[in-house]
Amino acid sequence: MLLLNPLFLTVIGLIVGIAYVWQCVTSPLQKLPGPKISLFTSWLLKYHEFRAQRTKYVHELHLRYGPVVRIAPNEASFATLEGIKEIYGSGGSGYNKTEFYNLFTVYGRRTMFSSLTKEEHASRKKILADRYANTNVMKSSSLDGIKERSQRFIERCSKSVGGSLDVFICLHDYAFDCITHHLFHPYGSDSLRHEMDEEVMKQVTFDDSLQNRLVQYYNPPLHKVMGNVLSIFAKPRLTPLADDLVISASGKTEPAQFTLLSRMQDKNYDMQQMEMAAECLDHMAAGIDTTGDALCFLMWQISQPVSFHIQRRLQAEILANPDVPFDKLPYLDAVVSEGLRCFPAIPMSLPRYVPAGGRTINGYFIPENTIVSCQAYSAHRINEVVFPEPELFNPDRWLERTGELDRKRLFFAFASGGRGCIGKHLALAEMKILLKDLYSRYTTLPDYTEMTPSDMEMADQLISSQPRGKKCFLRLEPLTEFKS
Ligand code: HEM
Ligand SMILES: *[C@@H]1O[C@H](CO)[C@@H](O)[C@H](O)[C@H]1NC(C)=O
Repeated sequence: MLLLNPLFLTVIGLIVGIAYVWQCVTSPLQKLPGPKISLFTSWLLKYHEFRAQRTKYVHELHLRYGPVVRIAPNEASFATLEGIKEIYGSGGSGYNKTEFYNLFTVYGRRTMFSSLTKEEHASRKKILADRYANTNVMKSSSLDGIKERSQRFIERCSKSVGGSLDVFICLHDYAFDCITHHLFHPYGSDSLRHEMDEEVMKQVTFDDSLQNRLVQYYNPPLHKVMGNVLSIFAKPRLTPLADDLVISASGKTEPAQFTLLSRMQDKNYDMQQMEMAAECLDHMAAGIDTTGDALCFLMWQISQPVSFHIQRRLQAEILANPDVPFDKLPYLDAVVSEGLRCFPAIPMSLPRYVPAGGRTINGYFIPENTIVSCQAYSAHRINEVVFPEPELFNPDRWLERTGELDRKRLFFAFASGGRGCIGKHLALAEMKILLKDLYSRYTTLPDYTEMTPSDMEMADQLISSQPRGKKCFLRLEPLTEFKS
């Protein structure tokens, strides 16, 4: 009967409460700058995550508390070069990934991206890295495919003249067609010309499963039991059309030599069809929204009156150098870098565990198993010596000699170290080829009859971020008529 005695229960409750508070206030993270509440609970951080505003919230904390900040009782964020190097670069590929990446398993399998430890990751990367090397991306068989898809994009543009074009859709189509070309040509998509294929892209891009997947991460048992009820309020991620595409493509024979599939089908690697399909689906998802959104934010920006001189200068460079290849145009390169600095398609924390024994980062001791991370959005803004006037879209900063190395080191759009973006060269080629083709022919202007300013605000997805309105209407004016 003692167990039901209210006094006894109160005493137990008090002891547990005091022990918890004691543990919090004596935690080594107590020394870190940060809001007091983050010492006791992670609810505020989670609240912002569920509102798709984690990135902005963490950035506000950095602005308020500095480049090192505690964001939850067991979690800290760094916006420093030392943090980037230690967390993502030490030992080659940095610290282990956290269970957050369990959300990215595909068909119940761990892909390269979702593998947690260095060892598991290295064995898969050994197989896949070859096809994403710049030498492979720059082969004419690979580049010609991208150029052809860029021409299809231009055809969509030419049809829109006189009206306006939702480039959010068309850019995602373009990225989808380019990545599936690289994964399994000739079995890739043609969403720029066929509505059926465009539906596949839409299923991946218009996915609204953020909240559902956050529940799955924070409370797997609840997610299991409540899955069906939950899905009424928060949709699960379902992409049957994309599944069909990758599973069927992975079973095809004789894909082109430059494709990822041709590499994975090599008998030496002994990969099962579903393993190949899982890897392909992952790269497809990694390649559509990132490249599509990066281009979308960038084009919207240089279509605005404040940045219009930048668009004019870009056009001038491209028109004056018709025979210079896309990767040898300095201003185009600066515009793309500035686009990725201001609008990194994966802007948010990439969570990792501090290894056994704990580590000291930026002078703070962080105990083992603490979740630590950097987010590109803040790394690109918080150091005003390296990036003066950080909120200003200014490609010129990338053309200055002084501080060049510092800018490159703090540039975190593709992350860094052994687990940084494998698709970086492909993404840059896609972006530059399209921008060169587009701005040698057209001037782009925002269509405010279809858009409100909030449509282009950054909204977090699970790891990437998109324009909140999931649309971006631009008017295209042929350059010959518009030349001043
Ligand atoms: C502008 C475009 C892109 C951006 C900004 C971007 C950014 C990133 C970032 C920040 C990471 C690290 C994620 C983490 O640690 O959680 C990453 C990883 C990755 N990205 Fe990209 N990415 C882009 C395009 C692509 C493309 C086109 C592909 C095509 C295959 C791709 C495939 C991957 C893969 C497979 C990984 C995992 C690498 C690994 O674990 O070793 N990305 N990307
Ligand atoms: C990563 O995890 C593995 C397995 O749990 C462990 O053996 C290894 O030491 C960890 N590595 C780091 C850098 O924490």
